[in-house]
Amino acid sequence: MNVTVFGTGYVGLVTGTCLAEMGNAVVCVDVDAGKIERLGRGEIPIYEPGLEELVLANHAAGRLAFTTEAAPAIAHGDVIFIAVGTPPGEDGSADLTHVLAVARTIGQHLGAGSIIVNKSTVPVGTADRVRATIADVLAGRGIAIDFDVVSNPEFLKEGDAVNDCMRPDRIVIGSDSAKAITVLRRLYAPFNRNHDRIVLMDVRSAELTKYAANAMLATKISFMNEMANIAERVGADIEQVRHGIGSDPRIGYHFIYPGAGYGGSCFPKDVQALHRIARAGGYEASLLQAVEQVNEAQKSRLFELICQHFGNDLGGRTIAVWGLAFKPNTDDMREAPSRRLLEQLWQAGARVQAFDPEAREEARQIFGERADLVLCEQAQQALQDADALVVVTEWKAFRSPDFKVLATRLKSAVIFDGRNIYDPLAVEAAGIAYYGIGRGRSV
Ligand code: UGA
Repeated sequence: MNVTVFGTGYVGLVTGTCLAEMGNAVVCVDVDAGKIERLGRGEIPIYEPGLEELVLANHAAGRLAFTTEAAPAIAHGDVIFIAVGTPPGEDGSADLTHVLAVARTIGQHLGAGSIIVNKSTVPVGTADRVRATIADVLAGRGIAIDFDVVSNPEFLKEGDAVNDCMRPDRIVIGSDSAKAITVLRRLYAPFNRNHDRIVLMDVRSAELTKYAANAMLATKISFMNEMANIAERVGADIEQVRHGIGSDPRIGYHFIYPGAGYGGSCFPKDVQALHRIARAGGYEASLLQAVEQVNEAQKSRLFELICQHFGNDLGGRTIAVWGLAFKPNTDDMREAPSRRLLEQLWQAGARVQAFDPEAREEARQIFGERADLVLCEQAQQALQDADALVVVTEWKAFRSPDFKVLATRLKSAVIFDGRNIYDPLAVEAAGIAYYGIGRGRSV
């Protein structure tokens, strides 16, 4: 099939590449000429395991092209995906500027019937707005073309995006058009083997499904962070509690890891946006507000523990930070808890020696050159003469350090484990003080 994808961010690039891998002829469009040029040269703008190889192979095979030229790309697509960003507007609601701009462009150049599929995370009712926008532009051109607008939200996780796209656990298709459903069933058939993963529904339910999924996951995390805060105060260990509740299949082990708060480009933005959507509909979503508030507070938890340990005296101290990305296997630092921590440490007069396996360049872009930040090439280097080690992201490489060696590198032997990846007893056996999240026994 001929497929066009607007937007070469995480969702657009991964979707386009996976569709090309399945044999479709895919054209990816972006307004960022520099990005398109780099992609054409085989330079991938994001770190995403497995993506580079697939982009290069499909580009070389002629199944994946990159362009800034909307008109031929629109003429090419039997199916046209919209996968552009929906950043938070000033009030937290999703900003639809890019989505509606693509809709207008489609209206300007559409010459024959097509299926427009929205993959961007958008407020309920956006597919209707996209349809109306395209129809308006077509009417202005004085032509009538039969087209469908479908909601097909994406559920991929950064760091595992290729796998999620190739082996989706569900393919949500929101549409009332039998023709669109038939075409999308055909397009997704190679991803839909062994058992049927396609979930058909109406457009608005599909749009809400995306927000409901992310809000549910964010709620689980904030709930566990709240339990961790309670555990600290009553002398209990949240890790034991986690095992205790996760074994109930109705609760499950997934997404109940307490930590330094959730970050990334999705949960913070989507929880806020859903809150606004609810309010616009006349409903005050107090649970969502609480989820957000707990997360905001949690992002300061590591700093609070550090202050507590050093008696609020951080001036002139050097803090080693392991992990800057908002989670492992990505270089993405959007809304990362590390950003809050670093700002707080600097504010308190501390220096930071940070290491992240992939996000060093990203950190350099965000923070620029500053005297109180050293971005280290190696994890061990960050420890040298530091007053403490803080683990903010649970990269595999951080999971089993030699604590004895670590103790000799640090000037003062203390670890703040923002992801509870260490056994407190093993750390303490090496003569290192240990602080985790919700580990009442050691605080
Ligand atoms: C999330 C969803 O998991 C995807 O299903 C969704 O498609 C995507 O948003 C999106 O809307 O595009 P992602 O933002 O890549 O994916 O990251 P997650 O793996 O969900 O992690 C989000 C944050 O939650 C991270 O900061 C992570 O450290 C934190 N987290 C996760 C916890 O603190 N505890 C947990 O138990 C799990």
